[in-house]
Amino acid sequence: MTAAVEALGISFFFGKTRALDGLTLTVPESSSFGLVGPNGAGKSTLIRIIVGLLTPMNGEARVLGRADPRQASRSIGYMPQLSALYLELSVWENIDFFARIYGVTERNRRIELIEQTTRLVGLWERRGDPVLRLSGGMRQRVSLACALVHQPRLLVLDEPTVGLDPELRANFWDHFRQMTKAGVTLLISSHTMDDAAHCDRLAFLREGKVVAEGTPGELVEATGVASATLEDAFLYFLKRGAGSNGR
Ligand SMILES: Nc1ncnc2c1ncn2[C@@H]1O[C@H](COP(=O)(O)OP(=O)(O)O)[C@@H](O)[C@H]1O
Ligand SMILES: [Mg+2]
Repeated sequence: MTAAVEALGISFFFGKTRALDGLTLTVPESSSFGLVGPNGAGKSTLIRIIVGLLTPMNGEARVLGRADPRQASRSIGYMPQLSALYLELSVWENIDFFARIYGVTERNRRIELIEQTTRLVGLWERRGDPVLRLSGGMRQRVSLACALVHQPRLLVLDEPTVGLDPELRANFWDHFRQMTKAGVTLLISSHTMDDAAHCDRLAFLREGKVVAEGTPGELVEATGVASATLEDAFLYFLKRGAGSNGR
């Protein structure tokens, strides 16, 4: 197994607030990995460290073989929890902006990638519309397109399906599965079980620590209750707290 991401004993503080507490986890390449935890568990902080926006106070994040995630930034696609779109700019202009930021400098290549990505997220017909005229679900698809356009090896999505209807959510997951089959690694955070069930592996987070890690099946099985759901497993491990493991 090659690791796309290795978080090794990461701690991070915002002033006196401890957001991450010696957190360790490994995300295997070419698979989907879910970070699941209640609000405030540290998911977004961990993600921002992995994409190189924050530097941990202790420990390290190795991403795509680099000891400094910033050296891997052109191979990373990041969709933040809060939209980073320019509302006055069109769908096409937003995606073009991010393609440039991610280093797709050659014009024809960029046009080809933007067209492909715009079609993938189902917004080809709306490509000329300013984002402010789009619905919430459409805006999320634009954000996803912005994270995808440069064909990253590691796609990091912070609660991407919040506010998406079930059909769109299913579409997203179809795309994600195609991508992981093609070798992309997907790291996705969520505070609900809807997305978690789709992931190859999960880590349950609480108070900046991993309280359990494994496949959805392993985590359910570890509760020892035959009829347990993934939601039950999540609650079980949150109550049990640190030090347990899904395997
Ligand atoms: N910019 C910030 N300034 C101060 N505290 C923060 C900031 N961002 C996050 N925190 C705190 O860090 C902890 C983890 O937050 P976060 O990583 O956003 O959790 P999650 O994404 O799981 O909801 C919480 O206690 C939160 O209040
Ligand atoms: Mg968050």
